[in-house]
Amino acid sequence: MQLDDIVPWGRSFDEYVAMFDLTADDLGKRILGCGDGPAAFNAHARARGARVISVDPIYAWPAGRIHERIRAVRPIIESELRREPERCLWERFRDVDDLIETRLGAMDRFLADYAGGHGGQAYVAAQLPQLPFPGGVFDLALVSHLLFTYSKHLSADAHRKAVAELMRVSGEVRLFPLLTLAGTESEHLPAVIDLC
Ligand SMILES: C[S@@+](CC[C@H](N)C(=O)[O-])C[C@H]1O[C@@H](n2cnc3c(N)ncnc32)[C@H](O)[C@@H]1O
Repeated sequence: MQLDDIVPWGRSFDEYVAMFDLTADDLGKRILGCGDGPAAFNAHARARGARVISVDPIYAWPAGRIHERIRAVRPIIESELRREPERCLWERFRDVDDLIETRLGAMDRFLADYAGGHGGQAYVAAQLPQLPFPGGVFDLALVSHLLFTYSKHLSADAHRKAVAELMRVSGEVRLFPLLTLAGTESEHLPAVIDLC
């Protein structure tokens, strides 16, 4: 996939559980979702009693503006997926239509939670590499499809600073995937591994 910008596009709770191998024990921890954008993880997990705070620069926007961005991004994602469908692993979704419908459903769930104000303090407008939290307030930080994914948009130094900040605020950090948008291993991986 090739994208000019880091786009708001959100996954479901089930996808987060699978990506991060989340157990019932993990879901009892104080969780930070960094770069969660319009993902449904926060809304769904909180509805199950989990303590989750999501951070993303788009939370400075009202729900209507986020919705507009999602509508603008959808055809770009869809055409990228249809361009080379054989480069995707079709295990979770039947086809491109199934993937798009599932993701739109997840983003609708986020938008309802966000617009309804149910989240309260659960959605914080901020961005890496500076998070507005004291050290060690989270047990588990999750970052999906931001670091490594956008290796062309974010430098090695930006990756190092971002991961150092995540390690400052959280006892454990899980990043997924380690691949770039092009599906290749990120060139920034060694710089991040050196930090650990
Ligand atoms: C492709 S979306 C992924 C959303 C979600 N994590 C998921 O997997 O469903 C990438 C998100 O990263 C956010 N983002 C971009 N730069 C960021 C930064 N420096 N710190 C935190 N989030 C950022 C974007 O606003 C966008 O919502």
